[in-house]
Amino acid sequence: MGSQIIKLRKKLNSKLSSSRYEHSLSVSFTCVCLAMRYGYPLEKAEVAGLIHDCAKCYDDGKIVKFCDKRHIPISEAERKAPAVLHAKYGAWLAKKQYHIDDEEILSAVACHTTGKPDMQLLDKILYVADYIEARRDKASNLTAMRKLAFEDLDEALYQIMKGTLDYLKKKGSRVDPMTAEAFAYYEKQRKNKMQIQKS
Ligand SMILES: [Fe+2]
Ligand SMILES: [Fe+2]
Repeated sequence: MGSQIIKLRKKLNSKLSSSRYEHSLSVSFTCVCLAMRYGYPLEKAEVAGLIHDCAKCYDDGKIVKFCDKRHIPISEAERKAPAVLHAKYGAWLAKKQYHIDDEEILSAVACHTTGKPDMQLLDKILYVADYIEARRDKASNLTAMRKLAFEDLDEALYQIMKGTLDYLKKKGSRVDPMTAEAFAYYEKQRKNKMQIQKS
């Protein structure tokens, strides 16, 4: 898989802007660190991080058109607020143009913008790595989230989702229903866990 990763890097470097490519590299290194911590195959985590924003070389309008042309189903909410769509279309591109067949990698790419209920380990690793990677500097809770990610991945996932939702609500932006559904799922799971710990 090592040579696959080198090839993948070269191709992505030629397609993405330099800042997007740097972000992708940084996410892939962070995915590897989290995979070490939580016992997930390192190379699969590295590939997921590298490829996750492969559709970001297109603007949102183009991605909607590509999805329609390729009969990739899009919800009404995704059509109205297509910023999340580069994840779904990215998974399609990863399979068709980057020849990645691993279902866990494709799943992680497909849900990296919204999350989803019952995420598997690589889904969580990528979602969290995308937020905490070293090049990020805007969010005020980054230091805390970076620490938490290596202590309790589920709690980091929950806190990052919560922060993202709060931020979108404050801005008056549309919240994708899948983001809301994922957050409700993890909020319930967290409450149940706390109740068990209390009893
Ligand atoms: Fe993304
Ligand atoms: Fe990203």
